[in-house]
Amino acid sequence: PSLDEIVNLHDFEAVAKIVLPAKAWAYYSSASDDEITIRENRAAFQRVWFRPRILRNVSVVDWSTTILGHKSSLPVYISATALGKLGHPDGELNLTRAAGRHNVIQMIPTLASCSFDEILDAAKPDQPLFLQLYVNRDRQITKKYVQHAEKRGVKALFITVDAPQLGRREKDMRMKFVDDGAGAKVQENMDVKKDEGVARAISSFIDPSLCWDDIPWFRSITKMSIILKGVATPEDALLALDAGVQGIVLSNHGGRQLDTSRSGLENLVEIVAALKTRGPWPNPNFSVFVDGGVRRASDVLKALALGASAVGVGRGFLYAFCAYGEQGVEKAFKIFADEFEMNMRLLGAKSLKELTPDMVDASALHSH
Ligand code: FNR
Repeated sequence: PSLDEIVNLHDFEAVAKIVLPAKAWAYYSSASDDEITIRENRAAFQRVWFRPRILRNVSVVDWSTTILGHKSSLPVYISATALGKLGHPDGELNLTRAAGRHNVIQMIPTLASCSFDEILDAAKPDQPLFLQLYVNRDRQITKKYVQHAEKRGVKALFITVDAPQLGRREKDMRMKFVDDGAGAKVQENMDVKKDEGVARAISSFIDPSLCWDDIPWFRSITKMSIILKGVATPEDALLALDAGVQGIVLSNHGGRQLDTSRSGLENLVEIVAALKTRGPWPNPNFSVFVDGGVRRASDVLKALALGASAVGVGRGFLYAFCAYGEQGVEKAFKIFADEFEMNMRLLGAKSLKELTPDMVDASALHSH
């Protein structure tokens, strides 16, 4: 289908499934074990219902925001997804260029197919970018990488904390890894295992000894905002707050890590409640992001109403560039914008500040 025929983000997924080589589809679409969490990520949004307000003069509605202090045209950022060249020859650059044109913030993956500097060179001079970090067993490699990113103007470091080992994504494991140039170029020391799929082949450098005691070291090597990506409980949310980081992402890695973990949306409710016991809310110095299963502006509005600062989208944008390159990503932004306009009008919220917990009924969220 032509790009004109795409009307929602699900359409991009359907097209990607057709156009992608089997190996790429397996790597992108797979989740761990029985793929229960990936299904739950979508299902959780469907257990939250709107309580729309009427007669509020919604002729002008505004869904722009700031994320960690950086302007964004959407309350959505592009979450890191590894190996963009499996899907399209320009890989991550499709996201960078589209994001630059539309003032959306991209989180660059450690395991990007394009090199870090290629991505930075494709960005506009003042384009804010975040970096997702997998921590190397050799901390000197990580230190160099982080400090180089800071020097090149990256604004925030999202340390992935839900992946001391990558999950068993069985669809992907059935594929053999062939180094065809789409692989990540940025990490040295890769002890590549070629017989168990893409994920295992590229991830063996990740350090499973990473722990809370390492956080001060990260603080000492960079001034960038530090965000922990992959928090799932109030206990860890409070530890993160106490550790002095600037925020957390409530995420289960798109269902690709611990299967039967709860959805970020479900965890949001109890995590926000726990954080409220520690002072004024929202806390301007501590952001709470959510990702997993977001395909519609209505999903985003539900998360924001329940207290999220902004929301991450992985596969939604990844699938958008597979068949259509950067224009696909631009179309995905446009679809979000159209959906925000309509949904905010129908909900009776002129700006994101007007989204409050009483605009949703989350009473069924915890009943599965
Ligand atoms: C990811 N994700 C991810 N996260 C991370 O911290 N480092 C990574 O390298 C990757 N790589 C990656 C590859 C692919 C193909 C997918 C689908 C996901 C997880 C990603 O950042 C995000 O948490 C999820 O994608 C969010 O769920 P949705 O939006 O894909 O449903």
